[in-house]
Amino acid sequence: MIVPDAIRKQVSDLRDQINFHNIQYYVHDEPQVTDQYYDQLLRRLQEIEEQYPDLISPDSPTQRVGAEAAQQFESVEHVIPMLSLDNAFNEAEMQAFNKRLGDLLDHSDELEYCAEPKLDGLAVSLLYEQGLLIQAATRGDGRSGENITANVRTIKSIPLKLAGSDIPEMLEVRGEVFMTLEGFNQLNEAQRLKEAKVFANPRNAAAGSLRQLDPAITAERPLSFCSYAIARIKGRDNPSSQYQQMHLVQSLGLPISPLIEQLDGLDRCIDYYRRIALQRDSLSFEIDGVVFKLNDRSQQQQAGFVSRAPRWAIAWKFPAQEVMTRLLDVEFQVGRTGALTPVARLEPVNVGGVIVSNATLHNMDEIHRKDVRIGDTVIVRRAGDVIPEVVSVVQKDRQPSFVLPMMPERCPVCHSEVIKQEGQAAYRCSGGLICAAQRKEAIKHFASRKALDIDGLGDKLVEQMVDLQMIQSVADLYTLTLEQVSSLERMAEKSANNLLQALEQSKRTTLARFIYALGIREVGEATAEALATHYQTLERLIQSDEDDLMQVDDVGPVVAHNIAHFFSRTENQQIIRQLLDAGLNWPDVQPSDIAKSLSGATYVITGTLAKYSRTEASNFLKQRGAKVSSSVSAKTTAVIAGTKPGSKVDKAIKLNVPVLTEEDFESLLEDTE
Ligand code: IVH
Repeated sequence: MIVPDAIRKQVSDLRDQINFHNIQYYVHDEPQVTDQYYDQLLRRLQEIEEQYPDLISPDSPTQRVGAEAAQQFESVEHVIPMLSLDNAFNEAEMQAFNKRLGDLLDHSDELEYCAEPKLDGLAVSLLYEQGLLIQAATRGDGRSGENITANVRTIKSIPLKLAGSDIPEMLEVRGEVFMTLEGFNQLNEAQRLKEAKVFANPRNAAAGSLRQLDPAITAERPLSFCSYAIARIKGRDNPSSQYQQMHLVQSLGLPISPLIEQLDGLDRCIDYYRRIALQRDSLSFEIDGVVFKLNDRSQQQQAGFVSRAPRWAIAWKFPAQEVMTRLLDVEFQVGRTGALTPVARLEPVNVGGVIVSNATLHNMDEIHRKDVRIGDTVIVRRAGDVIPEVVSVVQKDRQPSFVLPMMPERCPVCHSEVIKQEGQAAYRCSGGLICAAQRKEAIKHFASRKALDIDGLGDKLVEQMVDLQMIQSVADLYTLTLEQVSSLERMAEKSANNLLQALEQSKRTTLARFIYALGIREVGEATAEALATHYQTLERLIQSDEDDLMQVDDVGPVVAHNIAHFFSRTENQQIIRQLLDAGLNWPDVQPSDIAKSLSGATYVITGTLAKYSRTEASNFLKQRGAKVSSSVSAKTTAVIAGTKPGSKVDKAIKLNVPVLTEEDFESLLEDTE
């Protein structure tokens, strides 16, 4: 078939554009177009290639999933062995490493290092010839690994073709394939829905996904890549330091760590370790330490290797986020909605730097799936700020005498019957607000920051008040007297007064907060906001039926049922009446009020905010009707810049777009609440 030149040109332009946007997105974290626009480019390319199959080439961005499922992986020799790293577990060991190198190199000045986090994934080696990705291999035993080229081609952050004009004849890059926490959670959620295997941690998920014989499966898994070494390069000068090598790799379109730094001397290294440790829980991926490499390559060569690791590099490990301990017992905790959650009581153990003695077991289905018995040695995991969980059992330590935890027939708090609804994993206490545990949780929720935000009414205080039968429901909070409050443990008159004042202040609220504070099952902040905007008054909400409720954004049949059921119960109606009689009030909701006060505006968030995650910050903006975009244009209303903001701020300044600090952002939220 004869292909018109114009079509050839269009195909080549489309590929260049797609590759360019890929690099903006994956390497620079700085997309310049919307996902939708990117998809359009890709679709257009696909259409032309379908029409002119002769134009298809292996490096086309449409050809990421090409190969058929394999029977087994072939073996690949590593020309340069893939080494491992020596570890340090504390400052003294790091100091010893630095001293050893200083002595060895006969170097009396500070040594210069290149540092980056140690990603928790798996090592792969990528081989590019004439700029094209021709082979990818696992580490294997270090001398030979498995050929996983077809799978690696599906990882979108790995270019099929190197970028730029000065492309080396040959380049072998080493790096880590890993899964972000978000990708991991989404994958597990999807696996649960399919009743398929749930992965214990992002590392296992990444390994399991990469070692699929069918690349079509790998393509569906959210894998990422980060380069950390050049193994071989031909046809271009090999830079003289690790840091420069990484920047060369980056200029060729491969991702490198955004946290890479050059550091002069031991003290700076220690400081780097501490800084990264502080960031660990807020990173979007798991790391298990920090890697320090001598920066200067001639010094690296001088230092050489010992058996399987270079002498010039070390991994200073963080405390493990997964550790073994003994499961002493399983108890059941009653939540706000009556759900009984099995909680593991553990022999106290240090997990990721925190002493853990309780961990969640989620629900009975999980206990069965993981086959957990009391007395077992279990693996406990704590990552980020999530609740510690039991991930698995060490089966080899199982004794026949270990017993399966049993769901009690009666609620451990109020002794009402425990029931399980058809099709749901949770068992619930049927006691409702008779149950002190449910009452406590309901009151804590009512007082929480995103609900009525009652300052000074902490969990311990609520528990005391319920135990002493000072309060039965949230409405009773507003009948408390100074005498009652000051009689509580650790309550001086001043704090008692403060609490009463806070209660008084909490009476003036918003309809959305009030709805959220009621604690209706599955009605979170966003749903409460949608309900308030839709109905505008509490009366109208109370009177609506399930069909009507389903008209509200995000409200499906289950939530509609929960809401209608909540308002149909006399005890709830009574509590609401008491709250209104006590003087709770809110301003009228105008359709254009709260929720949509920023509609029409578009914001871009860049850098790290101290008090909010990106998602939180953008949710706050979206709740107010604003759009949040990832790229700055002349139409951007403002850029919100945290620390280390990057080039988006430069672009904003160039385009005369206002740049807001975190404080400005907070005032904006307050002004539009
Ligand atoms: S350098 C000769 N840098 O850790 C240098 N490795 O324990 C070899 N890893 O197999 C590795 N992040 O899979 C290096 N920034 C990093 C790393 C890193 C993770 C892994 C890698 C290696 C293992 C060694």
